Amino acid sequence: MLKKSYPYYLANQTVAANKDLDVLDKYSGKRATRVAFADAATIRKAIVAAYKARPAMAAFAPDRRRDVLEHCVRRFSERQEELALALCIEAGKPIRDARGEVTRLIDTFRIAAGEATRGGGEVLDLEISERTRGYRGMVRRVPVGACAFITPFNFPLNLVAHKVAPAIAAGCPFVLKPAAKTPVGALIIGEVLAETDLPKGAFSILPCSNEDAGLLVEDERIALLSFTGGLVGWDLKARAGRKKVTLELGGNAACIIDDDPGMDLDKVVERLVFGAYYQSGQSCISVQRIYVHAAIYDKLKKKIATAVGKLKMGDPRDEQVFVGPMIDEDAARRVEQWIAAAIKGGAKRLAGGKRNGNMLPAALLENVARDSDLYRKEAFGPVACIEAFDAFDDALKRVNDSDFGLQAGVFTGRLAHAMRAWDMLEVGGVIVGDVPSFRVDNMPYGGVKQSGLGREGVRYAIEDMTEPRLLVIRS
Ligand code: SIN
Repeated sequence: MLKKSYPYYLANQTVAANKDLDVLDKYSGKRATRVAFADAATIRKAIVAAYKARPAMAAFAPDRRRDVLEHCVRRFSERQEELALALCIEAGKPIRDARGEVTRLIDTFRIAAGEATRGGGEVLDLEISERTRGYRGMVRRVPVGACAFITPFNFPLNLVAHKVAPAIAAGCPFVLKPAAKTPVGALIIGEVLAETDLPKGAFSILPCSNEDAGLLVEDERIALLSFTGGLVGWDLKARAGRKKVTLELGGNAACIIDDDPGMDLDKVVERLVFGAYYQSGQSCISVQRIYVHAAIYDKLKKKIATAVGKLKMGDPRDEQVFVGPMIDEDAARRVEQWIAAAIKGGAKRLAGGKRNGNMLPAALLENVARDSDLYRKEAFGPVACIEAFDAFDDALKRVNDSDFGLQAGVFTGRLAHAMRAWDMLEVGGVIVGDVPSFRVDNMPYGGVKQSGLGREGVRYAIEDMTEPRLLVIRS
């Protein structure tokens, strides 16, 4: 159960603000709880606190950072079911996906705990000519300073973890704005961080308006902005001045299913259905485009459509439910409209049904026009387009025919095809033998083209949150 209300965290301290934000149960539509809502003055205070905390965080020894992260691992493990239920309520995430996200939250903090004491460094041989005789160099990484984080609604715990845990490991104080529709997960992370001895000012977690979050984007005392969300990220980057910016902005992920006599089609179908429809497709790496070799197209298409038709939709607390609500009715209506427009443009619906409020049945369509919104934009809903290809290279071209490039999946038993996909696909990651929706939290994760800039996946985020500092010694 959720508490009646949640305070926000300003410079490590709880604050019950004058203004509250209602958080809805996404299935019932009723108010589930309230969270304190920060105003612009509070955000300014948080920026000052984070900026002042830079020296203390940089001096907070690696073993103490590790201890903080290990404390989080312990506490999240003790509170696992409570956290999963919070996700189920505030995000409408089916309980089995919610439990999976909590497991990943714990993984992410555990990986960061390991990285905290692995800063390392490099010794440089500077004697490259007569001029540099007797010089040697050493490089270590130091924290960049205060960071600002803005996180989306779809993984209220683990996408917060992917910013917070590396920041602690790197020694960076931070101010976080969680998604207004799903702020509870981040505030529970705040509760656990407040139990630790992190230096004063090390963290602020502030639900606030997008307009006020502009302060985090523009303030020059913030050294790094890390944003996960929609294409608005590019506008934020344009306003961010001299700070470093990392962006994870989603995509319309594709999956190729090659003609391979050794392939277990039922297993492929199981993974495709998971990849396209888990948490109602509200993942940046949800399968949106499926390209199937013509030799197996009819068979596979029927199997997928049958499997989609059997998915149970309903209350996300029900252990059997696979498709829960979308985040709100507007989102569900938008996807429904894109589906209707695609059908008007000649597509055929192989599975799907009528929307009821924010509940949209899982849908599968073929012959979707290449210039339709459903094909070209990020659907972020329970829908996938399927089509046949004859030559593997043509399938690769179709995957690349996108403004996005986050991850792509390729089912093939041919090593040469797997390597060709890795060479040719314009994406941040190629997943062979599985869907693009596969992610382990220590992988480099991020995209090219409109999908973003930079990589998350603890060690890669730590690299962005630190910079090299050189020492030269003349002997
Ligand atoms: C995302 O939606 O960007 C995150 C996907 C994941 O972590 O699995």
